[in-house]
Amino acid sequence: MRRRGRDHAGEDLRENGSRSVSRLNGKVAVITGAASGMGKAAAILFAREGAHVVLADLNVPGGEEAARLASEGGQRCVFQRTDVSSEDDIKALIGRALSEYGRLDITFNNAGIGGAVGSLESIAVEDWDRTQAVCLRGVFLGIKHSIAPMRAIGGGSIISTASIAGIDGYPNLHAYCAAKAGVLNLTRSASIEFAIDNIRINAIAPGGVSTPIVYSGLGGDKARADEFLAKAQPLPMAGQPEDIAEAALFLASDASRFITGHTLVVDGGATAGAIAIAPRAGQPRPQPQRTFAGPSFET
Ligand SMILES: NC(=O)c1ccc[n+]([C@@H]2O[C@H](COP(=O)([O-])OP(=O)(O)OC[C@H]3O[C@@H](n4cnc5c(N)ncnc54)[C@H](O)[C@@H]3O)[C@@H](O)[C@H]2O)c1
Repeated sequence: MRRRGRDHAGEDLRENGSRSVSRLNGKVAVITGAASGMGKAAAILFAREGAHVVLADLNVPGGEEAARLASEGGQRCVFQRTDVSSEDDIKALIGRALSEYGRLDITFNNAGIGGAVGSLESIAVEDWDRTQAVCLRGVFLGIKHSIAPMRAIGGGSIISTASIAGIDGYPNLHAYCAAKAGVLNLTRSASIEFAIDNIRINAIAPGGVSTPIVYSGLGGDKARADEFLAKAQPLPMAGQPEDIAEAALFLASDASRFITGHTLVVDGGATAGAIAIAPRAGQPRPQPQRTFAGPSFET
């Protein structure tokens, strides 16, 4: 008999009779930066896939609203005000997951800021330090305090949001580039220490994605950001928070059980080739001359 709904194993029986497993059924996730953008999209998606989510952010009204939306997916989710640069706050956040739900399976270290912007010569030391504290120390603390509870249940998945600015250099973003590069290599070093505990540690490197961190600089105009971002890389579309949430879901779920120490680039092709020669969406398609580049002594 065909029926719709969830069976005892957490599997959805679709109308055509095929099964799709809720990919995070029974899991507990902590997500930072969850009041907005990618973190909010991930909280909603993770909850829809069966996880209880503890959402963390500095933004209290935004975080509470995101927790309400995530809870509509069927699992009760809660918000905890957290400054990711504070060790006490991160300890309290992980403690909240354990007191609410009794376990921790997934930590998504996603909170971030653009931080110190401008010429390197103009960066004030306190702005440099604050950028590192949020974007890099926050990730270190999220990993550090997730290990013991994950080890206690036989494993887990930690994901951190880096950036393509951690792979390539970008003008006027020195502090951010340095912090995000730090996230990538901390991901690698941590992954080899905790693989023995079956704790997988990966990162995501988004390209330009249409979230408030981008369009708050455009007067909050998301449509303008979408238009700009659709031409910012080879794929002719603006990256959306849900694109990153889907990547995070893959890394959080058992579908990626043999992947650790990896950075998943989600950038519409922005880093696939040299920026100076890569065709961009919205530009006329280049018509390269047919030729064959042989040994240089022949030319
Ligand atoms: N949007 C992009 O184009 C882009 C590209 C590459 C990487 N990223 C990274 O993606 C992540 C998510 O950003 P987003 O684009 O969704 O932006 P966003 O501004 O929509 O979300 C970031 C969230 O982090 C929160 N936050 C900032 N500082 C915090 C702190 N100290 N403690 C707790 N929460 C804090 C903010 O309140 C906000 O809700 C960030 O790490 C960002 O650096 C964004």
